[in-house]
Amino acid sequence: MAGITDGNFCKKLVPYGFDMVTLGGYNADKLTIAAGHKIIQRGRSEFDIKEEEIMSSIKKEAKMIKKSWNGMVSVNLRSVSPDPMIEISKITDIDVLEINAHCRQPEITDIGCGQGLLYETEKLYDFTKKIVDNAHSKVSVKIRANIENVDDIEVAKAVEEAGADYLHVDAMKPGYNHADLDVIKSIKENTNIFLIGNNSLRDLKSAREMISAGADGISIARAALKGNIPFDLSMI
Ligand SMILES: Cc1cc2nc3c(=O)[nH]c(=O)nc-3n(C[C@H](O)[C@H](O)[C@H](O)COP(=O)(O)O)c2cc1C
Repeated sequence: MAGITDGNFCKKLVPYGFDMVTLGGYNADKLTIAAGHKIIQRGRSEFDIKEEEIMSSIKKEAKMIKKSWNGMVSVNLRSVSPDPMIEISKITDIDVLEINAHCRQPEITDIGCGQGLLYETEKLYDFTKKIVDNAHSKVSVKIRANIENVDDIEVAKAVEEAGADYLHVDAMKPGYNHADLDVIKSIKENTNIFLIGNNSLRDLKSAREMISAGADGISIARAALKGNIPFDLSMI
């Protein structure tokens, strides 16, 4: 969660049984950093890190987590070109680089980043493939489901064909406060990629339903905002 999930925040969550924690999202190049400034100006939280400090900053945050934990650390990134993401994947303590194809803030989508990557499947494929071919870490792509004019299955197949290791799906169902399990089911039926299911997981019931729908793993954001988890992950 932008502006929230730094090394200290992630460290609070590792005792709850996760096998991966995610830093960020961070803006990794000039254009996304400038977009981040505009987002901050209208009162929304963002990490505000200078372009020349982004590598050292992420390195420091990841190292802080790894010092006392040997689970996986991923970093969620936005940038216009794949190059800064490839550079950041060289950080030893980063296990997974996550391409943010999810952010819906207009300042980010207007420059073709975040959710903006989902409207042109070919572009998403090329972007992901370049990172997969050059990254020094595993690669995840985080997408948002149920966006108008976006075919979730086409997107999922493009991510899989590009060779990503994980597809992380925010199964948002507009107007509902629970995940769209049908979208998880159909992505599972149409791909073989490791599928991380996300959205409104806040208790054992919702987490188990996500797994039953076909997710290979789950992720939790808002229910972890207080730095703890309101249910026992090992019971899933
Ligand atoms: C304050 C806030 C900041 C977020 N920032 C990011 C982000 O930077 N990158 C990202 O991929 N998702 C971001 N998200 C989305 C969450 O990771 C998650 O996909 C979404 O909230 C649905 O999951 P949940 O119901 O478990 O919260 C953010 C969510 C919130 C509430």
